[in-house]
Amino acid sequence: MAKKKTISLLLTAGLVLSVNGVSAQEPSQAPNAQSATAFDNKVIKKISADNMYDTIAKLSAQPRAAGTEGELIGAQYIKSQFEQYGYETELQPFPFYEALRNNVSGTLEVNGKPLNPYVMSGSYSGEVTAEVVYVGLAYADKVPEAVKGKIALIERGDITFVEKIKNVLDKGALGVIMYNNSGTTNRFGSANPGQNIPAVAITRAQGLDLVEQLKAGSLTATIKVEGSGFIEKTSYNVIAKMKPNKNKDTGQVVMVGAHHDSVPGGPGANDDASGVSAVLELARVMAKTQIDTELRFVTFGAEEKGLLGSSYYASTFSEEEADRIVAHFQMDMIGSRDAGGDHPAGGLIMYTIDGKKNLVTDLGSAAGARTAAAETIPMGQLGRSDHEPFHLLGIPAALFIHSPLEPWYHTPADTIDKIDKNKLQETAEIVGASVYQIARPDTPALKNARVAPGLVDYEFENRSPGA
Ligand code: BES
Ligand code: ZN
Repeated sequence: MAKKKTISLLLTAGLVLSVNGVSAQEPSQAPNAQSATAFDNKVIKKISADNMYDTIAKLSAQPRAAGTEGELIGAQYIKSQFEQYGYETELQPFPFYEALRNNVSGTLEVNGKPLNPYVMSGSYSGEVTAEVVYVGLAYADKVPEAVKGKIALIERGDITFVEKIKNVLDKGALGVIMYNNSGTTNRFGSANPGQNIPAVAITRAQGLDLVEQLKAGSLTATIKVEGSGFIEKTSYNVIAKMKPNKNKDTGQVVMVGAHHDSVPGGPGANDDASGVSAVLELARVMAKTQIDTELRFVTFGAEEKGLLGSSYYASTFSEEEADRIVAHFQMDMIGSRDAGGDHPAGGLIMYTIDGKKNLVTDLGSAAGARTAAAETIPMGQLGRSDHEPFHLLGIPAALFIHSPLEPWYHTPADTIDKIDKNKLQETAEIVGASVYQIARPDTPALKNARVAPGLVDYEFENRSPGA
């Protein structure tokens, strides 16, 4: 926030000030500052960092790992807040699968010799005895038909573990032995749910030895895996909608999101109770504003398991629905006092998946200059959060986050005592002012974000018009 002066003046760049009778050049504190408009003030004046802090306190009282009781408690709290503010609210369950880790055991014998393998994460439990067939890296078009009814010996590398297992399964393999492509460890690899053959990993030396032995004659292996597989769990998205009056409705939707799940054992005060707190506070503040665009506030589950909640939610959109959504603002890790280094605006940055500017970053950067941060906000390229599934649908989306990140990231020390109310306030003001610029009735409907021709990159041409 710009420092308070004893005399408050309307500042313009380069203006010579007289404060307390002493002449001074305008301080370099906020060179990009502009003033908030009356429209901005309708939203930003009502935003309370104390409210956000209270939300973080409630949510971070316990870890909220996806599929745990802690997540459900958090999601139900969020839902009740949205309902209290007058939103049409839904708790949307979705299934996800987690690899069993405890009590997993496995053995491998080749021509009677035990090899002490690692059971790949999520491997099917079962026992199989069959001949070994070497299939190299297991590219789809290179796996020999001969692997049918046999155990595939695969080298790690180039394509994913899951693809390799799929490629040999498609050809009828009954088991997988995968050897490392470097180093001395056998601890690697994972299978997907539904890949129902046992899969174990061995060291590079062991693998190369088997490849050599196969040149001399056939090998028969027995793989035995117990206690491994997947458990189905349920996570939730919380979806709150506010529709405009029917007589003033552009038919468009603007979305604001954060993820409410944490990593296991972590209180996730900054990651991402902070983002949820801003989503709830903006929902509260905007519930009473006049709008011509549907507001959709969403908190996602299972982000930490691989963006599962946002991917699930995006997968429920019809073509028509996706066409109506003109912007997605994602807030993730927006309150750490220890993030952002010495960068302006507390280190706030907007990341897009493709590194290109879009409607969200255009509005966000400009709103930064008009609100408490008093700075234009820079943008960069990064995924790693729930803006990705919406970008993949062609919806303009960006992640608001402080960068570089804090040392407490994904640790039990991500606690509320490290939350800076000023950072919460500044970020919420920027997103609030941006969203309201789209949603308020006096601004025209946007060109349909997915249908309108997009911006293009074109070359700078140093063409001289001549004399
Ligand atoms: N909030 C983080 C993303 C993040 C962390 C962005 C640090 C920038 C800097 C998010 O919750 C997260 O941890 N994401 C995972 C990826 C996801 C696909 C599991 C990550 O980044 O490892
Ligand atoms: Zn996060």
